[in-house]
Amino acid sequence: MEAEPRAFPDHRMPRHVAIIMDGNGRWAQQRYLPRTAGHRAGVTAVRKVVEHCVEKGVEALTLFAFSSENWRRPQEEVSVLMDLFLSTLGRETEKLHENRVRLRIIGDRSAFSPQLQEKIAASEALTAGNSGMSLIVAANYGGRWDILNAMRTLAAQIAAGSLRAEDLTEDLLSRHVSLADLPEPDLFIRTGGDQRISNFMLWQLAYTELFFTATLWPDFDEQLLDQAFADFARRQRRFGYTGEQVEALSSGHGDIS
Ligand code: FPP
Repeated sequence: MEAEPRAFPDHRMPRHVAIIMDGNGRWAQQRYLPRTAGHRAGVTAVRKVVEHCVEKGVEALTLFAFSSENWRRPQEEVSVLMDLFLSTLGRETEKLHENRVRLRIIGDRSAFSPQLQEKIAASEALTAGNSGMSLIVAANYGGRWDILNAMRTLAAQIAAGSLRAEDLTEDLLSRHVSLADLPEPDLFIRTGGDQRISNFMLWQLAYTELFFTATLWPDFDEQLLDQAFADFARRQRRFGYTGEQVEALSSGHGDIS
């Protein structure tokens, strides 16, 4: 069998961090506040984490803000979340732009109000040429939706005769899911105590290191993020190789063929 490419990734810092920001509702309930107060406090944590990732040189940060299943929540909560996206985009886009951040939204945006869709398009357009960190907000996003979308594109090519079914590869599918132009997430963080992926970036998380914390999202801060980075730096990512192979490859003396 052919050996894999020799460029073995040995990053002590994650290039791409993906976060499920869970626990806003419980944070509010613990304070006898409405759940929506937790989401507002969550925006403050988002700001801290974005700034810290920019400072640390993270290349991409993906935040799960609203899943395709979140429409099931009480209508009032959904509408506060939509207002929050809109007002946060309105307030923060200029600052992100000044910091050379490129903002992108992944997910099915067709369900959002025309006003929110326009704001998203405008924020993306303004920051599209920026060469700093990519900030990706997953909104009305689902991992299965993402894979299905990619499959639909490829199935259409097969139907049109421009692709043969036998030429479908993992690599080709990887190039059609969201964020195909970015490195796959190195580090996944979920706050709020649950230890599951909840239909987030199912394809892209195949080799991602997982970090779970019981801290509720509004309490997540720079110190905890540094803890997650330190934890990540201690892990050995093997991608199917043995530990010895990885050590040899990382030190540049390896020959795995
Ligand atoms: C999960 O907590 C959080 C959400 C569904 C919404 C996350 C949104 C934000 C942090 C604010 C907006 C973000 C941006 C990027 C503008 P939960 O409500 O499920 O908490 P619970 O598990 O305690 O009920």
